[in-house]
Amino acid sequence: MSVLVTGGSGFIGSHTVVELQTAGYDVVVIDNLANSSRESLKRVEEITGKTVTFYQVDIRDREGLNAVFEKEKDIECCIHFAGLKAVGESCRLPWEYYENNIGGTLVLVDVMRKHGVKNIIFSSSATVYGDPDTVPVTEESPVKKCTNPYGTTKAMLETILTDIQTADPEWNVVLLRYFNPIGAHKSGRIGENPNGIPNNLMPYITQVAVGKQPFLRVFGNDYDTPDGTGVRDYIHVVDLAKGHVKALNKIREKNGLSVYNLGTGKGYSVLEIVKNFEEASGVKIPYEIQGRRAGDIAINYADPTRAQIELGWKAELGIREMCEDSWRWQKNNPNGFEQ
Ligand code: NAD
Ligand code: UD1
Repeated sequence: MSVLVTGGSGFIGSHTVVELQTAGYDVVVIDNLANSSRESLKRVEEITGKTVTFYQVDIRDREGLNAVFEKEKDIECCIHFAGLKAVGESCRLPWEYYENNIGGTLVLVDVMRKHGVKNIIFSSSATVYGDPDTVPVTEESPVKKCTNPYGTTKAMLETILTDIQTADPEWNVVLLRYFNPIGAHKSGRIGENPNGIPNNLMPYITQVAVGKQPFLRVFGNDYDTPDGTGVRDYIHVVDLAKGHVKALNKIREKNGLSVYNLGTGKGYSVLEIVKNFEEASGVKIPYEIQGRRAGDIAINYADPTRAQIELGWKAELGIREMCEDSWRWQKNNPNGFEQ
C-alpha cells in the first residue's frame, strides 16, 4: 500500500515522510511548493535511502490530482498537510486562506472518494481550543471561536471532515491537533525553513543565534503564568511525525472518526525556552520584554492521554533534544534549503 502525503515537502510533512519510509510504507508526495523547496525531499531520500515519488501538484487542481490517482493505484490513505499556515498573513488575506485550505481540501476529498480512497489523516491544531478555560486540554475541551482566519480554516475543516464521515461511514478520519512543533531531524539535513522573518518562537530564537536577527522580542511578561511569559506545549517534530505513523495503523483498523491531541503534556514558558536553548547551544540569546502580541493566550498544553491509550503513541524527546536539534539544523543550514 502507499500513502499519499499532501504538503509532504514542508516542515512536518518531510519529517513524516522519513518516518513513513522507515516504517516500510511507500510514499507519494504532492506539493505545489508554495512554502517549501524541492530540496527537502532530496534530503529525505538521502536520510532513508529510499525514493520518494513526487508530483508538483496543487490540491485545488482537480485534473492534476486525478492524474496522480490514475497513476498511483496503490494509494490507500492520505495524510493531508497541505495548507497555508501563517496567522498574521491569514488576517490580511482571508479569502486566500479559505480558498486554499478549505477549497483545496474539498477538491482533494472529492477526488479521493471518486477513486475509492476514503481514509484521511488531517493536520489540525491546538488553535481550535482558543483560550482554554482550563489546562491541560483534552479532546473533549470545547472548540472555541478562533481569533484568525487560519485557525478558523482548521476548525471548519474538522467540522467538514466529521460531517463527511457521519454521512458516509466508509470514511475513516483522524483529526490530529498539534501543539507547538519544533526541533528537526537528528541528521541536521531537514528542518523548518520559514519565509522571511519568523513568527514562531523557536525559529526566531535560532535566527538570533546565527546572527540573522539582533534579539528576541518576548511578547509580554505580565501573563498569569509562573514567570509572566506565555506557556506552550512544545513537541519535537520527529515525535509528531511518528504520531502520524501510529494514526495510519489506527485508520487501517477502520476507526471511523477519531480526534487526538499530539503534545507532550508539559508546558514551557518563553523564558524557559530561551534558557534551555542557551544551555543546549552554548549561545547567548539577547532578548527584550515587549507588549503582548495580539491574539496570544497565556497558557496552553495538552492532555495527550487518549493518543497514548488508543494509538500507543507518546512523545519521547524532551526539551533538550528539541533545542539541540533545532540548533543543529539552523547552524548547518543558515539559509535553509538554499545552498
Ligand atoms: P509547511 O508550510 O512547511 O508545509 C505545508 C506544505 O503545504 C508546504 O510545503 C506548501 O508548499 C504546501 N501547500 C500549501 N498549499 C498547497 C496547495 N494548495 N497545494 C499543494 N501544496 C500546498 O507547514 P508545516 O509546519 O509543515 O504544517 C503542515 C500542516 O500542519 C499545515 O496544515 C499546518 O497548518 C498544520 N499545523 C502546523 C503547525 C506548526 O506549528 N507548524 C501547528 C499546527 C498545525
Ligand atoms: C502560533 C499561532 C497558532 C499556531 C501556532 C503554530 C498566533 C497568535 N498563534 O501559536 O495559531 O497554531 O503558532 O504554528 O500566532 N513569542 C515571543 N516572541 C516571538 C515569538 C513568539 O515571545 O518572537 C511567544 C508567544 O507570545 C507565545 C510563545 O512565544 O507565548 C509561542 O509563540 P509561537 O511560537 O508563535 O506559537 P503560538 O503563539 O502558540
